[in-house]
Amino acid sequence: MLSSQELGLLYWLGREYWSGGGAIVDAGCFLGGSTIALASGVREAGRNADGSSPITVYDRFLVEDYSLASGFFEDAPELGVDDDFLALFERNVAGVRDLLDVRPGDILQQRWDGGPIEILFLDLLKTWSINDYVVREFWPQLIPGRAMIVQQDYQYGGYPWLAITMELLHEYFERLDEMPWGTVVFRLRAPLPDLHGMSLSRDLPMRDKLELMDRAVNRETQPAGRAMLRLSRALLVWYLGRWRAGEAEVQAVMREHGDDPSVMLACRRFLSSPMAPSENERERLHHDPCARALTSLVV
Ligand SMILES: C[S@@+](CC[C@H](N)C(=O)[O-])C[C@H]1O[C@@H](n2cnc3c(N)ncnc32)[C@H](O)[C@@H]1O
Repeated sequence: MLSSQELGLLYWLGREYWSGGGAIVDAGCFLGGSTIALASGVREAGRNADGSSPITVYDRFLVEDYSLASGFFEDAPELGVDDDFLALFERNVAGVRDLLDVRPGDILQQRWDGGPIEILFLDLLKTWSINDYVVREFWPQLIPGRAMIVQQDYQYGGYPWLAITMELLHEYFERLDEMPWGTVVFRLRAPLPDLHGMSLSRDLPMRDKLELMDRAVNRETQPAGRAMLRLSRALLVWYLGRWRAGEAEVQAVMREHGDDPSVMLACRRFLSSPMAPSENERERLHHDPCARALTSLVV
């Protein structure tokens, strides 16, 4: 599912950046694209001479409707939604299997027990709750001054909690690189505060969520990054029930970025999302004075 640029980054991190001083975490490996990129780099560097398995890999390994519809399982026509695809992953990663510690299951049920983390690849933060759970469970073990976080979905345009989280903890990270419509790379520069005692993305007041999101949009310097972050913001506005404001923002992005097919695809995906309310529902919300009064306080 990753671009060649993103795979190249992971390979480089495994080969050139990883020192062996902390674990590598591949959170959301799917069929093993990110896993093989990281592991090939580690293999090439030859730094795990002690025969240890430095890459801990997480996934539910359950087929989802979008991945089935996208044709990822054409070689396994017997698989349907919710079937287990761990065997396919195992087949794909056979050549680097000795480098992996594979932990199948819902990440919300997993505990991190692997000590300091040097490279954290994140490609499963698909909800507010998963995001906040992973931040509290894994991030306290990131090595200050060294650890890299690869946020694969940062510029995907559909997960506002990623930008909100990185803005909330902005002073602790430096942003190193970005890849259009996807990955942004951060390095932890200072020890993090107590993440268990803090409100994270889901529990922040709406007003704070929006303020952090606005800061994140304004931080983007490249047109594609800005467009995708504006889509994340539009989704956040949607969550508030301000469908028309969210939709207007998407339309504005479409007008301004009509020459970027990836942005246009993301906009259309947004507008045809199953989360989108029906026309009747939109009308009702639009004319509900209570909903409007509450949401206008924060949008
Ligand atoms: C976009 S795919 C990852 C793509 C992969 N990194 C690659 O290189 O092709 C997202 C993955 O996150 C996994 N995932 C989503 N929610 C999860 C959860 N709660 N626990 C564990 N895995 C989860 C899905 O099963 C899916 O394989």
